[in-house]
Amino acid sequence: MSITDAPHPAETHPAPDLPPATAPAGGGCPVLHGAGPGRTNADEVASLRAHGPAPQVELLPGGVSARVVLSHNLVKLLSSSPHVSRDWSRHGPAQDDKTMVPWYWAWSVQTAGANALNAYGEAHRKLRAPVALALARRRVEAMKPVIAEIVRAALEDLADGPSTVDLVPAFALRVPHQVVICLLGMPEQLLVPFHTAAAGLFATDASAEEMALSMQGIRDVLAQLVALRREQPGGDDLVSDLIREAETDENSLTDTELRDQLLLVITAGVETTVHAIGTLLVDLMTHDEARTLVTRSQEAMEDAMEESLRRRSPATAVPTRFMVEDVTDPVSGQTLHKGERVILHLAAAGTDPDVYEDPERFDITRATSRQHLAFGYGPHFCPGAALARLEITTAVREFLQRFPATRLTISEAELPSVQSFIVTGYQSIPVQLAG
Ligand code: HEM
Repeated sequence: MSITDAPHPAETHPAPDLPPATAPAGGGCPVLHGAGPGRTNADEVASLRAHGPAPQVELLPGGVSARVVLSHNLVKLLSSSPHVSRDWSRHGPAQDDKTMVPWYWAWSVQTAGANALNAYGEAHRKLRAPVALALARRRVEAMKPVIAEIVRAALEDLADGPSTVDLVPAFALRVPHQVVICLLGMPEQLLVPFHTAAAGLFATDASAEEMALSMQGIRDVLAQLVALRREQPGGDDLVSDLIREAETDENSLTDTELRDQLLLVITAGVETTVHAIGTLLVDLMTHDEARTLVTRSQEAMEDAMEESLRRRSPATAVPTRFMVEDVTDPVSGQTLHKGERVILHLAAAGTDPDVYEDPERFDITRATSRQHLAFGYGPHFCPGAALARLEITTAVREFLQRFPATRLTISEAELPSVQSFIVTGYQSIPVQLAG
């Protein structure tokens, strides 16, 4: 993202009352793309904060203008406000179309209306209900032994392999992927094409052709999956649950809507959980006192997970919302104007110094950790949060029990970040395994 004081292209109103954009020390315009070589999303947030609670930025690559909301309280206010919409087709700027940057189009526009995340009001409630039901406590309880077995098998394979290993592919990524296979009842052969396509959707530097291929790849896999479940009805998996719900009068869904809810479950549920597991592992490998506490108590493990989610929100900046009416921040007096694109920066909210004392400190005894917004807030609050929490705590607890003396082979500062402002996490976590 780059700070800009240029007028918003969608403006039908006077320029908003923004603090002036300032050039960084040493001159030049600050150009910020999210995490990149030598820079993390936390570094980016630190520079953005100098421009107030909701500066106007350019999203790079591509230069789409938006207001990025950094303040915890303002993110909360806007997340639950009826004056803010996810539905581009009803409330997005007229000039947002396929000629825009591919990642922006795929991320914020293309699926508008067809899945819960990008819907508003009554349409949102209708699309969300079957997904929320399918991810309810019953399903989470049923997944407990499945997750335990997936983690156990992954740890066995680690124990049988070389002692120097990258924990991202070998563990952090493997667990949520296998969980999603079981959750959806997805045949193993569909997972690789799916992951390849899903990963492509998060690439903010993808070309239009690459993005179109990723989108098509995912849709093909999901169409095959739905067809398979329809042929063999009555299964005990999330797709079968969704198909059943989609056939009720109350929650009926078209085939396209059904496919797009699945697309949402996987894109929202896998990439985020991979990074939540990886980041918590790194946090605990680099904080000895916290690691000792979590190996003694499940409560401490849960505190550590919440603190890690607060400090490094895996869902960093959630897809664009659109202002339906003006909303004024009661604290700063800044107004977000009708028609503007708005990005809620959950990672910035989690490190807001007005809410969290010394926010960069990883402190599992922090009383405010659980106030974080890493799972969102309001009508779009993550319906997979309970499942994600179970996956993260099971994976990390069992890993630390099996390999308690494992250490990073490079310093924490050298770990490469995922290059994105959509998700925060590590591309790789090289370690020396030790029991
Ligand atoms: C650590 C892991 C996870 C994180 C950090 C996370 C984060 C989020 C956030 C921030 C939102 C709201 C976005 C917004 O308000 O714009 C969301 C929505 C959603 N998440 Fe998660 N999520 C995680 C895991 C999961 C899992 C495991 C699933 C399902 C298996 C899932 C399914 C969904 C769905 C379906 C929505 C859309 C809800 C709606 O729009 O009403 N998430 N997630």
